[in-house]
Amino acid sequence: MRIIKIFDTTLRDGEQSPGASMNVQEKVQLAKQLARLGVDIIEAGFAVSSPGDFEAVKTIGAEVEGPVICSLARAKEEDIKRAWEALKDAPKKRIHTFHSTSDIHLKHQFRVSREEALKRSVEMVRLARSFVEDVEFSPMDATRSYVSYLCEVIEAVIEAGASTVNIPDTVGYTIPNEFGALIKTICDKVKNIDKAVISVHCHNDLGLAAANSLSAVLNGAGQIECTLNGIGERAGNCSMEEVVMALRTRRDIFNADTKINTEEIMRSSRLVTKITGISVQPNKAIVGANAFAHESGIHQDGLLKDKSTYEIITPETIGLHKTKLVLGKHSGRHAFKTRLKELGYELSDDELNIAFERFKKIADQKKDIFDEDIETLVSDEVTKIQETYSLIDLYITSGMSQQPTAAVKLKVGDELMEVTEHGDGPIDAIYKAIASVTDTKSSLLKFEVKSITGGTDALGEVVVSLEEDGKAVRGHGADTDIIIAAAKAYVNALNKLAVRKK
Ligand code: KIV
Ligand code: ZN
Repeated sequence: MRIIKIFDTTLRDGEQSPGASMNVQEKVQLAKQLARLGVDIIEAGFAVSSPGDFEAVKTIGAEVEGPVICSLARAKEEDIKRAWEALKDAPKKRIHTFHSTSDIHLKHQFRVSREEALKRSVEMVRLARSFVEDVEFSPMDATRSYVSYLCEVIEAVIEAGASTVNIPDTVGYTIPNEFGALIKTICDKVKNIDKAVISVHCHNDLGLAAANSLSAVLNGAGQIECTLNGIGERAGNCSMEEVVMALRTRRDIFNADTKINTEEIMRSSRLVTKITGISVQPNKAIVGANAFAHESGIHQDGLLKDKSTYEIITPETIGLHKTKLVLGKHSGRHAFKTRLKELGYELSDDELNIAFERFKKIADQKKDIFDEDIETLVSDEVTKIQETYSLIDLYITSGMSQQPTAAVKLKVGDELMEVTEHGDGPIDAIYKAIASVTDTKSSLLKFEVKSITGGTDALGEVVVSLEEDGKAVRGHGADTDIIIAAAKAYVNALNKLAVRKK
């Protein structure tokens, strides 16, 4: 059985999804979850592209144990040196450099000849090798490149020291049998191909990214580049959960598997949604809300008789356990801490005290506390930010025959401020009051509310996106009262904007 390496690029290509930008703290939190999930390589960012990306690659390299940490770099000296500076303290590191090989890109975008592109690629792989042992090269837009030229470039970069050659379908143009044939040609024609791992990096413009990647595996690829929930540039990247579960479920066909701990898939997917604010469509394979929901009477009848009739993967395999009652109002600090540890959260004593206090408050309002509730209340502690504004109190009146009114008390610095506003609904009234106290000029781009678990006493989570002067942030708030959750989310986003402004 071959083991296919999983190269996760959620933090790099995934972050290129419109509206998905993540701050350093969020990237580190996600990278730690990727390590628990068991990915082989984490592409932590594109070090030269911004100070934030540099910081993310550096911090992840220093703090995340297990996977190889990688930075992207164009085939340029300054990029490669910057990638090295960000990576140098990481115990396991890789530089991933790339140059286009298609005539379309060379002629219209870079205005260089094929010869020049080849020479630059080789020189930059050599430069990267002078810093690290582990170098990956990508001939960008490979699927629209002349195959003989593509093979020539691959052979030359392997000769120069690349130990992974990644074949990107940059514009999501190829189809499974064509892509499989391309990988086979590379295996047959590139003389030194045995000295490198063939990787594939497929985009989903035609909805074929997972199928193309799997076809490549059948033809010799040993690494798949992918993202959680399939997020990424335009229509996204190959979705990790789809290829991993296809390989696991059809080992009989692929004779290959990955080292992914599939029971961490669901939690990883939820974390990506929470951090990026990009929800998963309900019918999305593996992680969609309906992926394990059986509606038809005939199917339900079969399932009751024997699960194998209509279920090819058990929900437990991807960590989707029946929502479990874990703690209640009488649970103590020790039980809370132990459950947090089992869920993968290690909080400092101060963070734990705050989280435990919140837990007790929620346990008073809500009879049953589930894992999802705990995750929601502690993830705010993990990704805590400096507070310019704190929500102290809130009073709302609303009804069918009265105008909604909100009185909001906020602490701004050391000052307590109180404002009352009317609106066309309670949220509108609260947001007007908060906007007036904070004097914000931001505009609300998105407002989403969802329930964390079932039942009318469930925790509600609100996610808002704000924008001011080209800076966009997301805020979260959770509470058993969705009106309070909405206020918390708005204040959280305003605090993030205040940090961004500083
Ligand atoms: O899609 C692409 O070609 C890329 C490369 C940088 C690998 O993301
Ligand atoms: Zn890409």
